[in-house]
Amino acid sequence: MNFKEYLNELKTHTPYDFSDYSDNSIHRRIQKILKDQDLTLEQLYEKTKVDKQFVEHLVEEITVNTTEFFRDPNIWITLFKKLYPSLKRKGTINIWHVGCSSGQEIYSNLIMLNELGLAGRVNVLATDINQKMVKTSKDGSYRYKFNIPYLEAFNKALSKNPIENVSKIDWEKYFNIDLEDDFMEVKSFLRDIPTIQKHDLVKEPVPAMHKFDVIFCRNVLIYFNTTLQSKIFQLFYDNLNNSGQLILGNHEGITGFFKTKFVKNGPAYTKNKVFHFKY
Ligand SMILES: C[S@@+](CC[C@H](N)C(=O)[O-])C[C@H]1O[C@@H](n2cnc3c(N)ncnc32)[C@H](O)[C@@H]1O
Repeated sequence: MNFKEYLNELKTHTPYDFSDYSDNSIHRRIQKILKDQDLTLEQLYEKTKVDKQFVEHLVEEITVNTTEFFRDPNIWITLFKKLYPSLKRKGTINIWHVGCSSGQEIYSNLIMLNELGLAGRVNVLATDINQKMVKTSKDGSYRYKFNIPYLEAFNKALSKNPIENVSKIDWEKYFNIDLEDDFMEVKSFLRDIPTIQKHDLVKEPVPAMHKFDVIFCRNVLIYFNTTLQSKIFQLFYDNLNNSGQLILGNHEGITGFFKTKFVKNGPAYTKNKVFHFKY
């Protein structure tokens, strides 16, 4: 059995389909699982077929969950300067964080929205395929020493380039901080805003009855092959309101056919409402 055959079997016997993830990344992850568990691919396959809990563990091992508060600080500054002013006149702003990992992206966005007086007007959905990450996002509890440098880096960027009147954020406004136990917890007024749930972008229908004004899908598509990326661009296009914005990671971009369906606007891609035909 080779990797491709294994992924096809996984697709048949479990709810998950990793067959269109990019080869390099998925092969490396599976190699690591085989090594850690001292299994052959055939043995892994047998385990996958009978043990549902093990399948969830496999999903946790396969996915790459690296994230940071205000990842790429200057991108966030540009976003807040350009993106939200255009949405200020809207009643409710519908936002979807796809592949939210442990939640730092959700809370970075909400902190800044609160600073700009918009937190009361947002409806936020955040999803991830990895159930452990969904739980961590909901808990909003993080290690202080690991996470504070990212928050401080954002404050540094902000001091050089304020957004409206905001040039520094007081983190104690948003986190209960316990230095002794190296712990910081997002305060409940912020934690209560988003709906955070497990969802597989590849296999499951979009878990909302409405379209979105902003979709964050940062550093997720990088793990998909171009066929799957195209399928997901179509899904995002169909689920954005006219002039809705898609925010990708710093090293990701829309390529090929879908370039005509979105207009690049700094770090955001705006849905181009002229095109309604399907790929
Ligand atoms: C590298 S993290 C990116 C986190 C955050 N968006 C950021 O940019 O910092 C990628 C996340 O995508 C999630 N993911 C991978 N495949 C997915 C899928 N099919 N559906 C939903 N989430 C997925 C992973 O579990 C992981 O948490």
